[in-house]
Amino acid sequence: MTLHPIPNLIPTTTEPTSARDRAIITELAAWFDRAARPLPWRSTPRNPYHALVAEAMLQQTQVSRVVTYFTRLIARFPTLDALAAAPEQDVLALWSGLGYYRRARSLHAAAQAIIKHHAGVIPTNLAALQALPGVGRYTAGAIASIALGQPAPIVDGNVARVLLRLEGQDQLTTQPRIHQWAWLRAQALAHACAAADPAGTLIARFNEGLMELGATICLPAPAQPHCLVCPLRERCLAQARGVQAQIPPPKPSKKTPHVAAVVVVICDTQGRVLLEQRSQAGSTATATSTATTTSTSTTPAPTTGMWVGLWQCPTLETLGRLTKAAALASAKELTQMRSGEPASVRPAGDFEHQTTHLAFRFHVFAAQAAACVRKGASRRWMMSVDLHELGLSSAASRALQMGLASAAVRQHAPAKPTQPAKPTQPAKPTTPKQTVNNSASSSTSRRNKL
Ligand code: ADE
Repeated sequence: MTLHPIPNLIPTTTEPTSARDRAIITELAAWFDRAARPLPWRSTPRNPYHALVAEAMLQQTQVSRVVTYFTRLIARFPTLDALAAAPEQDVLALWSGLGYYRRARSLHAAAQAIIKHHAGVIPTNLAALQALPGVGRYTAGAIASIALGQPAPIVDGNVARVLLRLEGQDQLTTQPRIHQWAWLRAQALAHACAAADPAGTLIARFNEGLMELGATICLPAPAQPHCLVCPLRERCLAQARGVQAQIPPPKPSKKTPHVAAVVVVICDTQGRVLLEQRSQAGSTATATSTATTTSTSTTPAPTTGMWVGLWQCPTLETLGRLTKAAALASAKELTQMRSGEPASVRPAGDFEHQTTHLAFRFHVFAAQAAACVRKGASRRWMMSVDLHELGLSSAASRALQMGLASAAVRQHAPAKPTQPAKPTQPAKPTTPKQTVNNSASSSTSRRNKL
């Protein structure tokens, strides 16, 4: 075990606190005591392990979605030691549906790093916290201040908005400038907390109060902030000038690229379904697809590193959109690649799935294959009752359910009279597209950049 002394990142200041800042801090902390939502990670006193888990889950995810996931994870792994000792797959299975699965792997790795480098005790030191996997400046500040009473600042989108409005700051237009300004302001207020209360309870209540105000009262456009019930109404410079709705300025809208995902839900003769684990190394570009896309882009599908370690039915991802015929051709090709023989492939349905950076269209197919073919460590044939053991993203889970439902309907449908076979159209020759085969069998690996 190595215990390194790490210098703390919290700079000291000798600036005296203004009367206005003192009022802002004490009024917001007192409001938080009265108005805080009862959330499962808000025990008294705060539990640093709970704070670590909650902050990992709350990154990019709303409180209301996190509550059940947090409660389930803590019930299964009540201590940091239990989490560190668990297989990563068990943590991913508990995270299934919450999204941003890299957070689950990082949380697990952070628990192991705390056991290894800090004797199992979550460090109070900001630099040591930030050295943990998945812990950035905000998360380190939240854990250090809320659970450990350190005078650390925190800034996320909610906090930045509260501070900008409080100061009537409407001169900053770019995100980097806004965040730089907000971190400085949050830092000054954190110092003021430490000066007023060296024991560290004020900073905890003030920082959580900032988050709570941003989440429940000082709402972003297009919602209106609830200024009439705001505890900082008298201190707010934007409200005094009536410009709170214009702060912060709207972010420039960015276009999210389209990705077509062809999924085949392949069942064997015993009713088991084939699942594959997305590779750690990321995706592999293959130019073997006969798919005809409507996209003319030649950029690789930007899904490298997404959903790594999670399970899914065999999936081919392509940047751009696919026609129905092209999706079916891809599905047949994919089924043949996995089963090694021609198999019947039928459309089961389509759906849209939006992530932060990508707009997916899932084309789901159901296929029947002969016995267990192409098995491996990262491929499993599973009965549907056992699927809860695996971590699946919400999109993979939805595709799987869609395919299974279609297979079940077909199984129970009365047999159709046989039609004379139609002559099939030969597949159109195509330019090779940038197709990503996100399976464990990927041979060429790219670095995981997400
Ligand atoms: N968002 C991020 N951290 C939070 C916390 N501890 N409580 C409520 N919302 C949060």
